[in-house]
Amino acid sequence: MELKWNCCGLMLLLALCAAQVECRKHLKVGRRQNPQSSHHNVRNELKSLAIKHKMNGTTSETVKTKNSASSGASLGNAFNTEYYLPVTIGTPPQKFNLLIDTGSSNLWVPSSKCAATVKSCVSHNQYDSESSSSYVANGTAFTIEYASNSQGGVALSGFLSQDTVTIADFAIQNQVFAEITDEPEASFLSSPFDGMFGLGYGSISIGGVTPPFYNLVAQGLIKHPVFSIYLNRNGTSATDGGELILGGIDSTLFTGCLTYVPVSQQGYWQFVMSSALLAGHNFCTKCQAILDVGTSLIVAPAAAVAKINQILNVLNPTDTSGVFLVNCSTISSLPTMVFTIARNEFPLQPSDYVLQYGEKCVSSFTSLAGSDLWILGEVFMGAYYTVYDLGYNQIGMAKALH
Ligand SMILES: *[C@@H]1O[C@H](CO)[C@@H](O)[C@H](O)[C@H]1NC(C)=O
Ligand SMILES: *[C@@H]1O[C@H](CO)[C@@H](O)[C@H](O)[C@H]1NC(C)=O
Ligand SMILES: *[C@@H]1O[C@H](CO)[C@@H](O)[C@H](O)[C@H]1NC(C)=O
Ligand SMILES: *[C@@H]1O[C@H](CO)[C@@H](O)[C@H](O)[C@H]1NC(C)=O
Repeated sequence: MELKWNCCGLMLLLALCAAQVECRKHLKVGRRQNPQSSHHNVRNELKSLAIKHKMNGTTSETVKTKNSASSGASLGNAFNTEYYLPVTIGTPPQKFNLLIDTGSSNLWVPSSKCAATVKSCVSHNQYDSESSSSYVANGTAFTIEYASNSQGGVALSGFLSQDTVTIADFAIQNQVFAEITDEPEASFLSSPFDGMFGLGYGSISIGGVTPPFYNLVAQGLIKHPVFSIYLNRNGTSATDGGELILGGIDSTLFTGCLTYVPVSQQGYWQFVMSSALLAGHNFCTKCQAILDVGTSLIVAPAAAVAKINQILNVLNPTDTSGVFLVNCSTISSLPTMVFTIARNEFPLQPSDYVLQYGEKCVSSFTSLAGSDLWILGEVFMGAYYTVYDLGYNQIGMAKALH
């Protein structure tokens, strides 16, 4: 049966789901509590984002290497992202909290085989293959380079292994993942998560490893190759951070119809955005954008950010860190940013796009050198429920209900 994922198709899908209880599964997502959250974290986050997208960042500051002892503060808490999933690996199950990342496609966890000197590994849950009866050795060397050597050479390395990975109640058999034996201490030592759960396209998976979501589909654990994400911008616990829905959509979490836009390039969840309007200025004409749950920011081309800063009247427009402060008492008088995607408008209120860290208010609009890609992070995804459809290669969005 042909399923169309528009408003009417939604009704059809829900009817099917009612008949087949297992066709969709909800998984409560955790949101970390970050007592040290501050506007400094945003700068660190920007660096890690630049690393992830292999860009140079906004400044001449280089990303510090794991070998430079003084780098701790600089990259500490670099991965300032917030939403994680409980996942188990092996038989009997070993528990991990994994960051949800739609901007990458690998699953990795720290390994029990890491040396005691790798403190960031030892301080987290580690996978122990010897304690798992379903483990199958692979052994292929694995490295995720988050930056080239000239940028500081931040990399995680280890080797591939294969085991049963359980997410929600779905046991994915023979999932290949990376056991990390060496990781930059400064970046990960105090991270509240153990590893990463990539939900991007298989084409950007390192080592050609089939991502877990693909195996969920291939092994018939879910019927439709679709997942969707609802982010709670207020909750900060293991169970009220939001929801990842595997195998479909939950119409109780959004209002109105889903707007669908085709994926323009399969890798990230990338699409064409028609315009981005703020106070009468358009900053985008059919530009490329991606949804990235791995960042709290909105990355825009540098020229756009310069003008946006003027409109928001930021307090430090010449700051080279890429972190721009807004006068907190002016937030309610700032204009609405309106993105147009597939002929529908997706407004973001200033209360959505200004991040508040205690006394400091930070504009979520920032840029990465050398990039014209718009990266819509948690600020956008908190306001809009998002659907990732691998079957039809399209992205759906609708106003999230909070
Ligand atoms: C290890 O896993 C990779 C990715 O799935 C696969 O291509 C490779 O053949 C495997 N190697 C071994 C020795 O099992
Ligand atoms: C912030 O805005 C308020 C109200 O417009 C103003 O009184 C105050 O001086 C501003 N603060 C700064 C640092 O510009
Ligand atoms: C990044 O920096 C390197 C070395 O400074 C430079 O050659 C390269 O063009 C830069 N890339 C971008 C995308 O700005
Ligand atoms: C989120 O928290 C803020 C501040 O505590 C509160 O004003 C707002 O109503 C909350 N929003 C929701 C949707 O609960």
